[in-house]
Amino acid sequence: MFFLFICFFIRIGRKNQTLQGQKLIEVNWKQKIEELKLEIEQYKIENASSVEKFRIAYLGTKGRLKDSMSLIAQVPSESKKEFGLLINDVKKMAETKWTETKDRYENNGEQKSIDFDLTAPSFQSLSGGHHPISIVRRRIISIFERIGFTVEEGPEIEDDWHNFTALNLPKNHPARDMQDTFFLTPDLEWMLRTHTSNVQIRAMERNELPLRIINPGRVYRNETISARAHCTFHQVEGLYIDEGVSFADLKQVIYFFAKELFGSENIRMRPSYFPFTEPSAEVDVPCFICEQKGCNICKYTGWVEILGCGMVDPAVLKNCNIDSEKYNGFAFGMGIERITMLLYQIDDLRLFWQNDIRFLQQFRSNS
Ligand code: PHE
Repeated sequence: MFFLFICFFIRIGRKNQTLQGQKLIEVNWKQKIEELKLEIEQYKIENASSVEKFRIAYLGTKGRLKDSMSLIAQVPSESKKEFGLLINDVKKMAETKWTETKDRYENNGEQKSIDFDLTAPSFQSLSGGHHPISIVRRRIISIFERIGFTVEEGPEIEDDWHNFTALNLPKNHPARDMQDTFFLTPDLEWMLRTHTSNVQIRAMERNELPLRIINPGRVYRNETISARAHCTFHQVEGLYIDEGVSFADLKQVIYFFAKELFGSENIRMRPSYFPFTEPSAEVDVPCFICEQKGCNICKYTGWVEILGCGMVDPAVLKNCNIDSEKYNGFAFGMGIERITMLLYQIDDLRLFWQNDIRFLQQFRSNS
């Protein structure tokens, strides 16, 4: 009996002890959280490196907050919820302090002054440029504009009359073979224009004389693609119709053009044949690519043909209802690719079509 009595007291004593201990721990964890909170509040962050120190000390994986989480094991279960809420508040407070100070110091440039050299030259922005064919087309146009020619353009899909027949090239004329044609319809009535002379016919048909025009544009011929030829290329043709125009006028215009474009009047005029001009000539310039030593561009002759020209055949004027007794004139036509190759010493015409940036960017400053 006495033994039982003793046991009873011992139990009560233990219970009291646990209650007291519990109270102690409770005070302890609350106090610890309060202390941590105060510490965080008072932590002085004065520069970017102390921002990082703060983060490591409180928010890092081995930081004080992580440490304090382990207190939960000692917190009685009815207080665990309260513990969670309190510790969460402290965590949020630390995070806010960290992000705010981080923004402040990083934006202040303290950090940036380490990472960036503000005096370094800026990145170059890549600006585009004109294609060499466009550059030369513009130059050619501006030369003729200075002596009174105006630009006129026309369709690339053309009918038989404007591309051939009106130009004194009736059906089955052997000279049609000079311009191997992409026909668009089985009756051969429609085609991709083989030259920009179609624009000249359309202009003459308007019958507004005198006429002084240049016609830049894209043309098509069924040529095998090589270093010298392509099935698509660009021309500038010209036409001058007035009263009393002579071959001497044509010659002077060509001399002026050569001087302006190549800087020299050193050209060669050879008699030639075109169905739409009579007399006709071809104009050659010295081959600048090989300096007349001979290459595949000049076919080892030292000269390169750059244009065809002549006095407009009266038959062409008649086809356009122009009085050929009263009016006459001259016409000329040139390929822009060939001239561009000479000006820039380009030895392969295919480069114009390949869109290779290493080739194109060499012309950027010329735009
Ligand atoms: N149309 C001719 C061609 O494309 C060029 C040319 C135009 C020749 C005018 C003489 C006169 O080949």
